[in-house]
Amino acid sequence: MAESMNGLHRTHRCGELNKTNVGETVTIMGWVQKKRDKGGLIFVDLRDRSGIIQIVLDEENHEKDLLEKAASLKSEYVVAIVGTVNLRGGAVNEKLSTGDIEINPSEIRILSESETPPFPIEENSKTKEELRLKYRFLDLRRPDIQKNLILRSKVATLTREFLASEGFLEIETPTLIKSTPEGARDYLVPSRMRPGNFYALPQSPQLYKQLLMCSGYDRYFQLARCYRDEDLRADRQPEFTQIDMELSFVDQEDVMEVNEKLLAKLFDEILGIKIELPIQRMKWQEAMDRFGSDKPDTRFAMELVDVGDLVANSEFVVFKSALSEGGIVKAINAKGEGNRGRKQIDKLVEFAKGNGAKGLAYIAIADDGTVKSSFAKFMSDEERDALISRMDGKPGDLLLFAADKKNVVWQVLGSLRLEIANQQGLLKPNEFKFLWVTEFPQFEYSEEQERFVAMHHPFTMPFDEDVDKLISDPGAVRAKAYDITLNGNEIGGGSVRIHQDDVQEKMFEALGFTKEQANDQFGFLLEAFKYGVPPHAGLAYGLDRLVMLMAEATSIRDVIAFPKNKDAVDLMSDAPGVVDSKQLDELGICTKETEE
Ligand code: AMO
Ligand code: AMP
Repeated sequence: MAESMNGLHRTHRCGELNKTNVGETVTIMGWVQKKRDKGGLIFVDLRDRSGIIQIVLDEENHEKDLLEKAASLKSEYVVAIVGTVNLRGGAVNEKLSTGDIEINPSEIRILSESETPPFPIEENSKTKEELRLKYRFLDLRRPDIQKNLILRSKVATLTREFLASEGFLEIETPTLIKSTPEGARDYLVPSRMRPGNFYALPQSPQLYKQLLMCSGYDRYFQLARCYRDEDLRADRQPEFTQIDMELSFVDQEDVMEVNEKLLAKLFDEILGIKIELPIQRMKWQEAMDRFGSDKPDTRFAMELVDVGDLVANSEFVVFKSALSEGGIVKAINAKGEGNRGRKQIDKLVEFAKGNGAKGLAYIAIADDGTVKSSFAKFMSDEERDALISRMDGKPGDLLLFAADKKNVVWQVLGSLRLEIANQQGLLKPNEFKFLWVTEFPQFEYSEEQERFVAMHHPFTMPFDEDVDKLISDPGAVRAKAYDITLNGNEIGGGSVRIHQDDVQEKMFEALGFTKEQANDQFGFLLEAFKYGVPPHAGLAYGLDRLVMLMAEATSIRDVIAFPKNKDAVDLMSDAPGVVDSKQLDELGICTKETEE
């Protein structure tokens, strides 16, 4: 039977109590974590978001009624307890912040009962994620998830405080907007008032924040919900949150500076970690050449080394043909992996193939110095020695070679170095390595669309000295774009924006937009730019990714209260779902029959 709160006032949260409260009468409320009935001696652990405290009753000191009530408690009952704080009679529990005290209750009220939960509410749950997501409201009671969401709240609060102190205004932008098909796929929302027309949910507030700069707001920020209909991974959700900002009358340096201060503050005040400023910078080209990635994990080395010159005249067709077709040959040195047997090496070859490699060649140097190689037949002793020396190969090392087009080699070796580092336990989640990646190419060539597409977005400013190459040599144009990466994750990205008509026009031309197409999609922004536009630049973080890394979590689902699964489904509410035909009628929509 559920009793009322009447007359009770909570005085403390469970985890707030400590030795200094000994002797006080307190009122606490929370969920029963566990009850142990040891025949006349009853222990109840009471939990709220601050922690757990132990309540103890025994036959000598407590009335029969109270003992019976305590004995009736079950897991997840919500109870209020009035009692005095005592030093523990029994052993101190080092694992609890309240481990040296306990409560001697004078009153117990059952505020609500609970059915037996489908899985235990505990830290480091072994329950399958699918079941936990279905009962997310119970999963959210688990202390590790609560810790993550409390951390997330702190990041949001401190970010607001900091940006406000730096002169940023928090301004909301609409989430029912016009569809602009650059970037990921849009989520569409049908319009009832204009049947056959659709809003899109924003992929980011990009155009609106640029308009706010045109309107003189000078510095804007927003914790903005963004929606992208793309394939999901551990670090991607269909709806996610950006810490989004835009600044007027600034250049790249100013944006970087204020953001380094923000990151330093967050890590210092929340985690007690001092970030060394300025944060290291690396040009995109160097990141690709050395790490095969535009978000290099610099917690460990295992860098890509070019060996093209050493194998240019090789008998090995794999190398020779890659080079003659304009490709490259690169290698990494997996230290300590040289004693792998054939099967163990084949696993790496399979991994490489999964990342687009046609194959993976190797030289394995065993601890005793014996050298084995998949292309020994095609290699003279001199060539072998030159490769080993270039790769700084020592006994115990495994040299892995990829030959292909540049992009493929980067992808293959870039992912392989991460895989090996992961297997070797080199990716320590509590070691934080930040890196700015700068000087991105303005465009990347889309084989699918057979044209250049913007690598960041069409409003990103090219390098001044590259503007005249926009039409003649788009592949060579560098952009004033920058990403902030942490431990191999892109946690944020931004750019200086184009504020000159003529540059913007050339940009659209390079992207293959006609004037009409550009006007159709971005007309309101281009119109605004006719009326006095300040030079401006900005950046947006993926808040979920940032918090995931700060929390040392392995999935962004662990730092989002109500996430979707890998199929973009909310297992708890079962969204998306079918809707009433009446609703569809009102919207003028009919759906195709889908075969189940
Ligand atoms: P961008 O597209 O790089 O830039 O997005 C900024 C940051 O948002 C995060 N992010 C995501 N997080 C979770 N799930 C997703 N599906 C997802 N997609 C992106 C990433 C990324 O770095 N308007 C520009 C910013 C600007 O130029 O100012 C933008 O949206 O951490
Ligand atoms: P194959 O001629 O396909 O039997 O390959 C001979 C060796 O070269 C094997 O060890 C393959 O894994 C390796 N190999 C094949 N293609 C590549 C490539 N593109 N880059 C590096 N090694 C390769």
